[in-house]
Amino acid sequence: LEEPETAVSHDHDAEDFADHFTQEFWDDRYGSTGQYWSGQPNPQLVTQTGGLTPGEALDAGCGEGADVIWLASRGWTVTGVDVSPVGLERAARHAADRGEQVAGRITWRQEDLLTWVPEPERFDLVTASYMHLPGKAFEPFQRGLAAAVQPGGTLLIVTHHPGDLHANVGRTGDARMFPSAGELAAALDPSVWKIVVASSFARPATDLDGQPATVRDVVLRASRNGG
Ligand SMILES: C[S@@+](CC[C@H](N)C(=O)[O-])C[C@H]1O[C@@H](n2cnc3c(N)ncnc32)[C@H](O)[C@@H]1O
Repeated sequence: LEEPETAVSHDHDAEDFADHFTQEFWDDRYGSTGQYWSGQPNPQLVTQTGGLTPGEALDAGCGEGADVIWLASRGWTVTGVDVSPVGLERAARHAADRGEQVAGRITWRQEDLLTWVPEPERFDLVTASYMHLPGKAFEPFQRGLAAAVQPGGTLLIVTHHPGDLHANVGRTGDARMFPSAGELAAALDPSVWKIVVASSFARPATDLDGQPATVRDVVLRASRNGG
C-alpha cells in the first residue's frame, strides 16, 4: 500500500531526547530483555534490495542484526554498526547460530553514528532502518551515509512515518526526528543521485493496547550515478 506524504510541522525541541542516542540508553534497552526486536529482516529491505547483486554493504544502526544477517545470508559482505555493545553481542550470537558462511561475511563495529563517518565511496549498499537521530543530526548522518555509497551503488533509508508520532504505537521523540520521504530525497544532490523510491508504505502492526493498527514506513531508495 503506497500512501501520500503528509506534512508535519516541526515545532518541538528535539534536544529533550538526546539521551535516546547513547550507548547507556540502548544497552539498558537491549539488556532489559532476551530479544528486543522481531529477529526478522525489515520487509522494506527485503523488497528494495532483494534484486540487487550482492557486494559490500553497511547497515547503520543495526541493533540485534536481523537485517545484517539477512544480507549476509544472501551473499553480501556486511558491516553492522551500532552504538550498543549489548545489541551487537546479541547480533553476533544470532549470526554465529547461522553458521560460518553467514557469520564469516559480517563485521560488527561499535560506533557512535552522531560522530562516526563511514569510509567514502566504499559500499555497494548503505542501509539504515529506523535510525532516527535528534534534531538536525539526521542531515549530516544522511550525508555521511550517501558519501559512503560507491558509484553505481544504492542508498536505502527506512524511517518511521512522521504522522505515526501520535499514534498509540510507542513512538517517542520529536517531529524533527521523523523526516518525510520528500525531505530525505531533497537532501540528495540530483546531479549525483537517481531517486528510485521516495514514498511511504503502510504495514500492519499491533498497538500498545494489543489492538491491530496500521503504521507507515518512509522509504528512500536512491542509486548513485556512475559505476
Ligand atoms: C530503532 S533501533 C533499529 C535497529 C535496527 N536497525 C532494526 O531495524 O531492528 C535504533 C538503533 O540505533 C542504535 N543507535 C541509537 N543511537 C545511536 C548512535 N548514536 N550511534 C549508533 N547507533 C545508535 C540503537 O542502539 C538501536 O540499535
